[in-house]
Amino acid sequence: MPVITNIDDLKRIYKRRTPKMFYDYAESGSWTEQTFRENTSDFEKLYLRQRIAVDMTDRSTKSQLVGQDVSMPVALAPVGLTGMQCADGEIKAARAAEKFGVPFTLSTMSICSIEDVAENTEKPFWFQVYTLKDDDFMRRLFDRAKAAKCSALVITVDLQIMGQRHKDIRNGLSAPPKLTPASIMDMMTRVQWGLGMLGTKRRTFGNVVGHAKGVDATGSLSAWTSQAFDHSLDWDRIKEFRKWWDGPVILKGILDADDARKALDVGADAIVVSNHGGRQLDGAISSIRALPSILDAVGDKIEVHLDSGIRSGQDVLKAVAMGAKGCMIGRAFVYGLGAMGEAGVTKALEVIHKELDTSMALCGERDVNNLGRHNLLVPKGFAGEWE
Ligand code: GLV
Repeated sequence: MPVITNIDDLKRIYKRRTPKMFYDYAESGSWTEQTFRENTSDFEKLYLRQRIAVDMTDRSTKSQLVGQDVSMPVALAPVGLTGMQCADGEIKAARAAEKFGVPFTLSTMSICSIEDVAENTEKPFWFQVYTLKDDDFMRRLFDRAKAAKCSALVITVDLQIMGQRHKDIRNGLSAPPKLTPASIMDMMTRVQWGLGMLGTKRRTFGNVVGHAKGVDATGSLSAWTSQAFDHSLDWDRIKEFRKWWDGPVILKGILDADDARKALDVGADAIVVSNHGGRQLDGAISSIRALPSILDAVGDKIEVHLDSGIRSGQDVLKAVAMGAKGCMIGRAFVYGLGAMGEAGVTKALEVIHKELDTSMALCGERDVNNLGRHNLLVPKGFAGEWE
């Protein structure tokens, strides 16, 4: 059993055990990957204020996200193709999350279906939808999520059109994977992954195949995906989606204060400040830099979460101290999943929790709900005074 002390340890094992095409899918940003890189490097520009001789007994990381109790202010982000990183990956990640007491978000482009995850878990999970053209399919997704008792709906609003990731094109990414001499050779060397995949029937997009019109085989799936996103999306349509869902609605992919105000107008319960993990608009600012101006605009009226760049409990601490109510982690849990299945996701959560809890103590804080800007040293101009 390898010694795992941080998220990077999980990433190293994940890289060894996972076919290149799926590792590359998770580990890519769009185009030059500037935004992808700055999502993490900008966290390093923020400093934590070390405080001493403050009673640090009886600490708590417990909080609430959209009114739901969480053991720490972290949710698992929706990640497409999670069930290709590891057999039955969405079910495994959802189980790890529910045991840990944090929300799991199932992606529309998951391998395990909504019904599959609901049958194999006990607590409600969150469900994510893209803004797709096909109203009928969208309505049925909402209904299926309702029937599965999902406790929040996450609407991804930054993927009307898809950013280009060079590696996915080169690798011919698909689920199930395309069999080429190179991909067969690659998969043959990932024994644990291959055995898992042979042992499951879940190898393609469970929410889409057999559900979207005309998509019954993987051949028609790629044609569907390329035309499925609603290029004409506007705020009226987002407002309509809001009406379709009774519970909490979280808009994910807001990076600008003007859009945050609009999210408020359409009645969202929360927003996720996000650039989609640097996978969409390359050249956009990092989420952590975008956060302060969004908080200034709407922070007292709507719950503000953050994703993109969180790889440690210290990052969670910085985001929450800056004013986010919580964070989503994507890659950090996928590394764990690909490395060690459900146990790996649990490990990722344990690592982040311990880092958050210990760093909080070293900042002289006992309750995650008391974190604030007083815990941070923010370099002048960090949040930008743009021309
Ligand atoms: C889809 O949301 C992706 O980032 O690949």
